Amino acid sequence: IRSIVGRPDGGAGLAGKRVRVGGWVKTGREQAKGTLAFLELNDGSCPANLQAVVDAGVAVPKKLVAMGTCVVVDGILKIPPPPPQKQGTKQRPQRIELGVEKVLHIGEVADPAKYPIPKRNPTLEYLRDHLHLRSRTNTIAAIARIRNALAFATHSFFQEHHFLYVHTPIITTSDCEGAGEMFQVTTLINEADKNPNPQAKQLGIPKKKDGKIDYTKDFFARQAYLTVSGQLQVETYACGLSNVYTFGPTFRAEHSHTSRHLAEFWMVEPEIAFAELNDAMNCAEAYVKYLCKWLLDKCLDDLQFMDDKTCVDRLRMVAETPFVRISYTEAVKILEESGQRFEHRVEWGIYLASEHERYLTEVQFQKPVIVYNYPKGIKAFYMRLNDDLETVAAMDVLVPKVGELIGGSQREERYEVIRERILEMGLPLEPYEWYLDLRRYGTVKHCGFGLGFERMILFATGIDNIRDVIPFPRYPGRADL
Ligand code: 4AD
Ligand code: MG
Repeated sequence: IRSIVGRPDGGAGLAGKRVRVGGWVKTGREQAKGTLAFLELNDGSCPANLQAVVDAGVAVPKKLVAMGTCVVVDGILKIPPPPPQKQGTKQRPQRIELGVEKVLHIGEVADPAKYPIPKRNPTLEYLRDHLHLRSRTNTIAAIARIRNALAFATHSFFQEHHFLYVHTPIITTSDCEGAGEMFQVTTLINEADKNPNPQAKQLGIPKKKDGKIDYTKDFFARQAYLTVSGQLQVETYACGLSNVYTFGPTFRAEHSHTSRHLAEFWMVEPEIAFAELNDAMNCAEAYVKYLCKWLLDKCLDDLQFMDDKTCVDRLRMVAETPFVRISYTEAVKILEESGQRFEHRVEWGIYLASEHERYLTEVQFQKPVIVYNYPKGIKAFYMRLNDDLETVAAMDVLVPKVGELIGGSQREERYEVIRERILEMGLPLEPYEWYLDLRRYGTVKHCGFGLGFERMILFATGIDNIRDVIPFPRYPGRADL
């Protein structure tokens, strides 16, 4: 349908062409006495529908008109004769329509009264309870196309800049962010009970209190988790292949019931060798701008269709304006002097709360803001210690509407310093020996960042809740379907 109605001429140039079209009925009506059916068909390829006209001689109109019915039809595209023109009104160009000659398939709706998607503007909350059917709605379909375009644009950007795409593991024993927000991986123990692993003893398998082997931990010999970030692993490739990126699902067992957090979300994580914090900021800004331009170029119809009519303006603004760059210390000063009553107290050393991020991006600057050099106490162990010994070379990209879109840093490349940082943070050295090896053997200055893919979609579409921009959202209390 996109290849017909998505053309600049709205399909007019295809008049007279014979086509086969499949789609679902968005709305259908029967002309008096069942002589004709008018169907608005959509196949998910674009926001616009194709009107199909079916004569009673071709199929029983009644069978086709229920919303949600699936049809495959053959016919001829035509521009219908204009309706009689009312005086003083401007004649609108006629839409192309399909004169159906043959119906090849009808997937009837069992009981139209029970079709779970209501005709009139179902709310996104309602659709969350019908995940298996929500792709049939205009909004969710537009989000899916925008999500697809952003994924393609991501690969395009990094490939154009000669970054290698590296697949990092989903199951790991490392807690990259050190926040302990990990999902444990366990096995169903029945099989293991029947066939105890003869090597279990040698592997130092953990035992339960009753002395029996704890087979939930047997499979990997130690407790494994779902990854919170591919960073540590992708760093190993950056320290050998220079510029790399990973893009995959990541998992956080945060009990955050917010509109910005998911338990399973996708992250884009580039890692750049021979590079410092500024290079990470430049790369992040160029990448976000590239994504915005890509959408304006490839998805304008979907963006214009979104309920939030400001998304096109927002994307243009980001594509064209340089991001503000301020240090954490400056950011705190701005917040302190803002005269605002924030719910969360502002002082040097705090985590910036979402209200602070929004103040900076929506009130103070009205554009994206990169905040850098955070206090070491609120950031992860791997970030490079600055010369002041108080801050680390971290940076977050904050954007209007969403707040934190990207988190990144220059990595600590000095062996002694990172070893000290690990100990200072009360972490055991042993699990990080391989990470320390990267510093022992041929260390290199490097940096990288992670872009929360769903946060980028929120920003692009103007959708309010992150649960609506991923096909199958996972959050506390929700993992079905
Ligand atoms: O700031 P974060 O925690 O950074 C890291 O994980 C680094 N290891 C990335 C790196 O340097 N390679 O997460 C990065 C981004 C955040 O800025 C946010 O956009 C998103 O991931 N994010 C989430 N998105 C949805 N739901 C959650 N629970 C998220 N937590 C983080
Ligand atoms: Mg962060």
